[in-house]
Amino acid sequence: MSNNIEGKIVVITGASSGLGEAAARFLSAQRASVVLGARRVDRIRTLADELTGKGGKALAIKTDVTHREQVQALVDAAVQTYGRIDVMINNAGLMPQSTLERLKIDDWDRMIDVNIKGVLYGIAAALPYMKQQKAGHIINVSSVAGHKVRPGGVVYSATKHAVRVISEGLRQEVKPYNIRTTVISPGAVDTELPNSVTEPDIAENIRKVYELAIPAESFARAVAFAMTQPEDVDINEILYRPTRQEF
Ligand SMILES: NC(=O)c1ccc[n+]([C@@H]2O[C@H](COP(=O)([O-])OP(=O)(O)OC[C@H]3O[C@@H](n4cnc5c(N)ncnc54)[C@H](OP(=O)(O)O)[C@@H]3O)[C@@H](O)[C@H]2O)c1
Repeated sequence: MSNNIEGKIVVITGASSGLGEAAARFLSAQRASVVLGARRVDRIRTLADELTGKGGKALAIKTDVTHREQVQALVDAAVQTYGRIDVMINNAGLMPQSTLERLKIDDWDRMIDVNIKGVLYGIAAALPYMKQQKAGHIINVSSVAGHKVRPGGVVYSATKHAVRVISEGLRQEVKPYNIRTTVISPGAVDTELPNSVTEPDIAENIRKVYELAIPAESFARAVAFAMTQPEDVDINEILYRPTRQEF
């Protein structure tokens, strides 16, 4: 583990596109073993095949993070196959934004289920192993929207604020177990995320914001920065944006 990435076992939720996929590629290129979870199993299988074809170690496990037994099965598969879990990246998320008065309550439920409960299920699955190992690193994905709120983005922002609170509380609680915790809050990054916006006017606003979006590899580099620190250095929070982004 010369660079603190090589040889590590990294579980990534939401690895079928965007930030998760970019992190998987980046870490695999640096010889981490990656365990990929997402609902679109064809995509993660293709990605795992590609990474394995390049000499990497990769596993694809169909995972819906709203089902805690599936998240547990993802983490269990990592441990059964590779013997341990070093890093858990709770990345799966969606952003179907709308103003509260439109009462898109099913969308609120989905964001709460995936963006908050999915993260908690990831922590629940990984923590017992990491406690036993007395080592590990949990990386949660928040957002600039976890620091700010704007009309139309209330529930999404609330879920991303929750991820920051969960991460900071987790940080304090896991001190006895030598577990590192990082929350990464990106600004506009070029992924499929805007596709989850169904309201036409809000989709148009978001499309404008995403005109300045930066590549998903920016996230992978942030993950690598946190991972590559010496084990006694815990990078707790990373907030980054496109240089031109105002919000
Ligand atoms: N892109 C940005 O500008 C940005 C900025 C700040 C924060 N973020 C956060 O970054 C994370 C990744 O998003 P992204 O930008 O990479 O968007 P993306 O390209 O749409 O990727 C979202 C990922 O989440 C997965 N996912 C969604 N629902 C899921 C579920 N129920 N179970 C398992 N996986 C699920 C999707 O996989 P399947 O559909 O195959 O399940 C997909 O792999 C999200 O938490 C998002 O809020 C993104």
